[in-house]
Amino acid sequence: MRERIGPWDEFARVQEQLSGAGALLVSVDARGRPNAMTIGWGQIGTVWSRPIFLVLVRPSRYTHGCIEHTSAFTVNVPVGTMAAELEFCGSRSGRETDKFAVLGLETEPGHEVPVPMLAGCTVVYECRVVAKTALVPQGLLDDGVRSRYYPRGDLHSLFFGEILATWRNR
Ligand SMILES: Cc1cc2nc3c(=O)[nH]c(=O)nc-3n(C[C@H](O)[C@H](O)[C@H](O)COP(=O)(O)O)c2cc1C
Repeated sequence: MRERIGPWDEFARVQEQLSGAGALLVSVDARGRPNAMTIGWGQIGTVWSRPIFLVLVRPSRYTHGCIEHTSAFTVNVPVGTMAAELEFCGSRSGRETDKFAVLGLETEPGHEVPVPMLAGCTVVYECRVVAKTALVPQGLLDDGVRSRYYPRGDLHSLFFGEILATWRNR
């Protein structure tokens, strides 16, 4: 049973889950097939007077092209559950694997965006991309960040998703 909540209502639990086991970023590819990828980096806040979920996705991820194609995504937060799904979706690519089929992930259609939500996740955000930008090498001012996270380049793109709906499972 889902109830609609405000974008900030589960802020603390979501932030904690992101920095722990992660959440599932769902997008849809050009063939209309959904794909789920584990994310750990993301921020909820206000930009352009709108509630925004900012996600960081490397260009090498299959998800990157999917988000560019649909300009929408859902962030599905399984608080304290779905450890196996988070591990699988964080180590396999939708390029070679239909993660939804392998894991038998159950979905519900998005209400505000043409991207499904994952049934059973504690909190779900439906987001429409309003801006995209990319990190550039000269913008990385900390040598530690550059050497630890970008030894082979593949600098993240930043997708600013306006939160059109937030849902809590109860
Ligand atoms: C806990 C965890 C957090 C992750 N966070 C991110 C992230 O924020 N951004 C990113 O680009 N990749 C992240 N990854 C890596 C992707 O989930 C992984 O490369 C995935 O296989 C990409 O799937 P795709 O090719 O189907 O998009 C994370 C992986 C794990 C296990």
